[in-house]
Amino acid sequence: MEITTVGAKHEKRKLQQSVYDAIVDGITQGEWKELDKLPSVRVMAGRMNVHRLTVLKAYQQLLEDGIVHVKYKSGYFVSASESAAADASPASHRDSRSWDYQARSLYVHRSRLSDIHRQQVDYQMSEALIDPGLLPNAYLSNHVKQVFDMYPKVLSTYSSVSGDIELRAELARYFMEKQGITVHPEELLITTGSQQAIDLISRSLVKDGDRVLIERPTYSPAIDLFVQQNVKLLPVEIAPQGYDLEQIEFLMRTEQPKLFYMNPTFQNPTGYTVPVRQRKALVELAERYQCILVEDEVYHDIYFGDPPPLPFFYYDTEGYVIHIRSFSKYVAPGLRISVLAARPELMNAIIPIKALSDNGTPLLTQKIFQHYFFSSRLQEHVAKLRIALELRKARMEKLLEATDWRWTSPGGGLNLWIELPNNVNVDELLRQCLAESIAFVPGRICDPLDRMDSWIRLSYSYISEIQLEEGIRRLIQIADRVKV
Ligand SMILES: Cc1ncc(COP(=O)(O)O)c(C=O)c1O
Repeated sequence: MEITTVGAKHEKRKLQQSVYDAIVDGITQGEWKELDKLPSVRVMAGRMNVHRLTVLKAYQQLLEDGIVHVKYKSGYFVSASESAAADASPASHRDSRSWDYQARSLYVHRSRLSDIHRQQVDYQMSEALIDPGLLPNAYLSNHVKQVFDMYPKVLSTYSSVSGDIELRAELARYFMEKQGITVHPEELLITTGSQQAIDLISRSLVKDGDRVLIERPTYSPAIDLFVQQNVKLLPVEIAPQGYDLEQIEFLMRTEQPKLFYMNPTFQNPTGYTVPVRQRKALVELAERYQCILVEDEVYHDIYFGDPPPLPFFYYDTEGYVIHIRSFSKYVAPGLRISVLAARPELMNAIIPIKALSDNGTPLLTQKIFQHYFFSSRLQEHVAKLRIALELRKARMEKLLEATDWRWTSPGGGLNLWIELPNNVNVDELLRQCLAESIAFVPGRICDPLDRMDSWIRLSYSYISEIQLEEGIRRLIQIADRVKV
């Protein structure tokens, strides 16, 4: 009992500190400038998925530390440094402030994964990308030349907003032949990577204050994208056997979420796959509680044993599922081609946002993709690629056998999701690894609750086998060094 109370207190203090740090970071990075009003306690609690009391305590601490001040009935404001306060005469200050205020977003913009990827390192295990050496680059270059011969005006025009109609027709045929999914080309939207598809969904289908279910852990940029919309994220645990459907039904009944963002096949970061029976049951729940299921199928074709179950989209008869399929990972990452499938009601809400965003994905990349992807040579290549990736996964697992780290071996995808012993401080490990040219993803940024402090994601797909051996050897050494 005593231990639980101490543990709970410790957890609360940690949460309070994370709110405190988020505000300080926001001020340092210019999100809030001097004399700006901070988000209300309610809004901040929703944004960080914590109790309002936790936010209140963090604000009080900021107040005590002189970082913010409070105005009666108005809320908390960033304190002015003495120089800024002296500079600003009341009138000129008000003018510049109001202009500045309107030009800025009210929300935190962050992309924690790309912050890590931006660092140039020799041992790259943070990017879930495939080693360029494993892709048929010469063959792709030949296709590029042929596409220019076939479509001499390809650079002289726009694509339609939804995407090239020939490509969409071929993809509709592909979905039918490969998975028995009936989808009309009008129900397909070509996007610039799946990342854009998630962004378009987050901007078109949810609004401030809506509830959104999200896996815990999940693809870190998805958290950052939904946080931008100021929704309340409700985490759903994902385990090797899939979800806890009772938990999901409870959340759907009590919180009425607008959508559930899922990555159900060789999930990023865990590699887990949601089984068929849960797919059928979850589609029924979505219909009953009118919750849109967004299935992000980036790794569907990267399997090592049996192919994965059919997508949720296959089981949906009422139009509650949006299917996102990226070909970016294994076809040609540089083309950034993905397709989003949705029934007309949802599609009609998404297309205007795509139009506002970029007026359509470039026609050139769509045409190259179309001719390259459906060629028999590429389809044969994918079979070989699976074997090469499985070997790299096995190599990484073998090297890690010497440690007491724990993971579940994934049946596909590009990552290992690893739990480190409690005495390894992952923040310190990352700091020292980056200093020694090694990158990985800390588990915390994959957690909508910002905790999972003892987990890391290692991608085995990008670096060569030789680099993999050296990178893992060094990583283990550094982890030993940072043990407390
Ligand atoms: C689950 C998930 N969704 C989306 C993406 C982004 O993919 P794309 O390269 O197609 O934008 C990734 C990339 O790692 C991913 O893992």
